[in-house]
Amino acid sequence: MSKIIMGVETSCDETGVGLVRLSGDASEPRVELLADEVASSVELHARYGGVVPEVASRAHLEAMAPTARRALATAGLSLSDVDAVAVTAGPGLAGALLVGVAAAKAYAVALDVPLYGVNHLAGHVAVDTLEHGPLPRPCLALLVSGGHTQLLRVDDVASKITELGSTVDDAAGEAYDKVARIIGLPYPGGPPIDKAAKEGDPEAIAFPRGMTGPRDAPFDFSFSGLKTAVARWVEAAERRGEAIPVPDVCASFQEAVADVLTMKAVAAAREFGIGTMVISGGVAANSRLAALARERCEAAGIELRVPRPRLCTDNGAMIAALGAHVVAADLPTSPLDFSATPALPVSTVTVR
Ligand code: KG4
Ligand code: ZN
Repeated sequence: MSKIIMGVETSCDETGVGLVRLSGDASEPRVELLADEVASSVELHARYGGVVPEVASRAHLEAMAPTARRALATAGLSLSDVDAVAVTAGPGLAGALLVGVAAAKAYAVALDVPLYGVNHLAGHVAVDTLEHGPLPRPCLALLVSGGHTQLLRVDDVASKITELGSTVDDAAGEAYDKVARIIGLPYPGGPPIDKAAKEGDPEAIAFPRGMTGPRDAPFDFSFSGLKTAVARWVEAAERRGEAIPVPDVCASFQEAVADVLTMKAVAAAREFGIGTMVISGGVAANSRLAALARERCEAAGIELRVPRPRLCTDNGAMIAALGAHVVAADLPTSPLDFSATPALPVSTVTVR
């Protein structure tokens, strides 16, 4: 078997088109990355401090066809080589998702190939197979980005994913973006905070660890209290007329985020006897999260897999990779009239 799968991603502010080659057989599918083209509208949102849905949708419309053409050119393929199309059906911004879903339907109809509407969160997990090969079953996934913070049990990335916990308020990346705004760093806040934290003391300020009390849900997260604590601390320092020690604030905030994420993820792996952890999403690029996860996984005897940063952030390759696993498992295609589903639950890996 050798098939070319095209993946289309437009759930937030990245227009992504990926191409992969699926080979091997159903029991041992091999998925190889051929192209991963992304057009981002992040600069258009920077001055608002967050993604503006209508601006993102319009940018997707403009970028969709050129991004697909670039992906085909990079892979040295033409549209007629594509054997199946996968597209993010949700979760994500309604108007943004619609652009990708409409484009994918058009490609699938024009090429007369199968179409699969798939789950964006499952894509963040499936992408790791492009870098580290087949996923052990089960594995645990920690997804951390601007839009999501989730702990997942993955029995089969194409068909069986269970949410163990998620954030009850802000996503981890959202907390980075909001804290950056409070201390006057640019959007998106993750990279500048990560950089400033390197010069600071992670123990300078004891920021709270959300939802770690004995009565809290063990695998849920909360970051809005942490964000408020940073705001209060900064306000108090300003009232006293003191300069804000930005590196210390960044390092202490970052330590609180990385501590809670890794503590809960390792606890979940232990509780369910799972030996492999995958961390993905934009925040997986965080240097402290990666270091602490490595340390704690090693101590607990858990194999840690983190895709390279380019694959961790939103892209079309992750959707193509997931599509390839769905094709390999011979799962049903999606009907042509399926719609984008902004709140698609992670348990729905493919829409029927
Ligand atoms: O996955 P992503 O590109 O888009 C979605 O939100 O789906 O993630 C973007 C998020 C932003 O909130 C950004 O601040 C955060 O990832 N981020 C980081 C780092 N790089 C990006 N957060 C912490 N440390 C980083 N190095
Ligand atoms: Zn994402």
